[in-house]
Amino acid sequence: MEDVLRLKYKDLIRQIDYHDWRYYVLADPEITDEDYDVLYRELLDIEKKHPGWIQGSNSPSQRIGGRPSGEFVTRIHRRPMMSLANTYSKYEVEEFDERIRLAIGKNPVEYNIEPKLDGVAISLHYENGKFVRAVTRGDGMRGDDITANMRTVRGLPLQIFDGPGKNADFEVRGEVVMYRSDFLKLSEQREELGLSPFANPRNATAGSLKLLDPREVRKRKLRVWVYELYGDASWAGTSHTGRLDILEEMKFPVAQPRKVVKSVDEIQAFWEDIEQRRNEFSYDMDGVVIKVSDLKDRELLGTTAKTPRWAIAYKFKAQRATTKLLSITHQVGRTGAVTPVAELEPVLLAGSTIKRATLHNEEEIQRLQIGPGLEVILEKAGDVIPKIVGRAPGEKRGEYTPPSKCPACGEPIVKPEGEVIRRCVNISCPAMLKGRLIHFASRGAMDIESMGAQTVELLIQHQLLMDPGDIYLLRYDQLANLPGFGDISARKLLNGIEESKKQPLERLIFGLGIRLVGAGVARVLARKFGHLDELADAIIKPKLLEGINEVGPKIAASMIDFFSRARNLQVIEKLRNSGVNLGKRYGAEEEVAPAPLIGQKFVLTGSLETMTRLEASEILEKYGAKITSSVSSKTNYVVAGEAAGSKLEKARKLGVTILNEKDLIALLREFESGKQN
Ligand code: IVH
Repeated sequence: MEDVLRLKYKDLIRQIDYHDWRYYVLADPEITDEDYDVLYRELLDIEKKHPGWIQGSNSPSQRIGGRPSGEFVTRIHRRPMMSLANTYSKYEVEEFDERIRLAIGKNPVEYNIEPKLDGVAISLHYENGKFVRAVTRGDGMRGDDITANMRTVRGLPLQIFDGPGKNADFEVRGEVVMYRSDFLKLSEQREELGLSPFANPRNATAGSLKLLDPREVRKRKLRVWVYELYGDASWAGTSHTGRLDILEEMKFPVAQPRKVVKSVDEIQAFWEDIEQRRNEFSYDMDGVVIKVSDLKDRELLGTTAKTPRWAIAYKFKAQRATTKLLSITHQVGRTGAVTPVAELEPVLLAGSTIKRATLHNEEEIQRLQIGPGLEVILEKAGDVIPKIVGRAPGEKRGEYTPPSKCPACGEPIVKPEGEVIRRCVNISCPAMLKGRLIHFASRGAMDIESMGAQTVELLIQHQLLMDPGDIYLLRYDQLANLPGFGDISARKLLNGIEESKKQPLERLIFGLGIRLVGAGVARVLARKFGHLDELADAIIKPKLLEGINEVGPKIAASMIDFFSRARNLQVIEKLRNSGVNLGKRYGAEEEVAPAPLIGQKFVLTGSLETMTRLEASEILEKYGAKITSSVSSKTNYVVAGEAAGSKLEKARKLGVTILNEKDLIALLREFESGKQN
């Protein structure tokens, strides 16, 4: 009897996988949603009776997502995940073709062309035909194990039932994407919640894959499209085109459309066709990839340090549209930066309606010479947010007056000398609230356990937090009733909050988020003044700040500004009344966070893969480093990411130590582990 049921169970898994494939890969379902639900419920019923069967079955029910993980495990790629050389010109494609023909002595060469999907690269491992592991690109050599997150991705086969690889061990590479329609829905939701929106589907995908809770990832409705198979030639064959066919047979979602071609003219025709129709596809593409199909030829051609010689990305040009700039409004970011935003007459660009575009800062507006009422040109390169690149031909110069009051709280805005950004410095400004609270509670600051971004968001949503002082007024009855909260989480949070009251002064100073006051400066100030009140006195006696090496005139001005605002002082009063340590250090032993980089000047340039430059700066500052914007002989280190330009060159000329992203991460890891010891 049980055997029959077990067979039934296996059959259900197979049926559901089949219908998932029809739905998510072919977009051509055979059965109704109701019929699908019946199958699914049957499956769950059996699993309820025989939970032991789930293990190792790769049942579709396991897509729901496992438990949240504390962090991702790092895994080394068996073969590095490389980048692609790219071009925007037919001429360079001709050169590419010529180079290949010469190198392998064939004419013509068979190429496979496929879309260049604009998402996040993923390496997928199968053992005995079962999905076992997914690893992100990371630095190309090693990435994060995000298996649990990938299980939730629609259309990814968890087990192979058909085709030659069904019992094999192999690796598949592809791109995780978010469909534009899902991205738009996500953006709306985030906007409603007051969360910062993602710039584009690719960023949303990257952000989603980094979530530690697979159940959250599942909600993001990610998809995957694959484009490379590494498996044994005995079943996978020796041509790329053949391998893609096999992947299709194995029911993988293979990147579409694709074509086998033998000349640059054919390549050009395919490229033009896709470029024209790119908005018809559900996902973003930023070009096509041309790949030599014969795998032996690929081997012959080999790779450069970063890219294979057998492939090239032929990218699409940025898309443009003209529309009217209706007005310029202002947004307040989490650090208080007030950014001008162009409100536009809605216009269709790259398949979506554009109504707004950031203008970055007033210098940008001056450079573009734009103003309300003018026709402007909007551009969207496949991979970036739409931006205004100029006035329409024949338009006169526009006019623009920057705001003097914060649009979110009405407090006066400051523009520090020599800076292009205007800022709101009101600590209670609602627009800045979330970022400030997250910073206040973060590890380097008050280190409040279980008060991460999501909790902060929830508390703001329920109007329980208006400023950092409110954290210490939270009550059990308020917390225990929040959605997703219960007795245990409420107690845990309150406990974390209580513990944080004893944090040393330097952490509080850092946590207040005074502009330009990083962890290093906070430490110096804490040592010098010993009590927050003494520090606040510096506004009446600014001389107190003179003679502190680490505190230059800009930092001094920023502090004076902070402590002269009544609202900031009210927050400090709240903290005092709640018993937060404003002076006198906690415990007999000095609890000072290590500052191995104190006095070291860093410049960051180019783009980093694993974090933004801002995040990197914040971490470095936490360890006492000073971040500056230009390279000089006083610079100790330059961190150079992808596409680093003149700053890197200058660093080389001056002989400044250059760190790549890997070096940086290794350095930070060292500090992190030092802290734990
Ligand atoms: S082949 C070594 N094929 O583009 C060859 N990559 O710029 C690398 N990408 O990291 C992969 N569509 O994330 C390949 N059809 C496609 C692709 C593709 C998008 C991404 C991939 C890679 C990046 C390189």
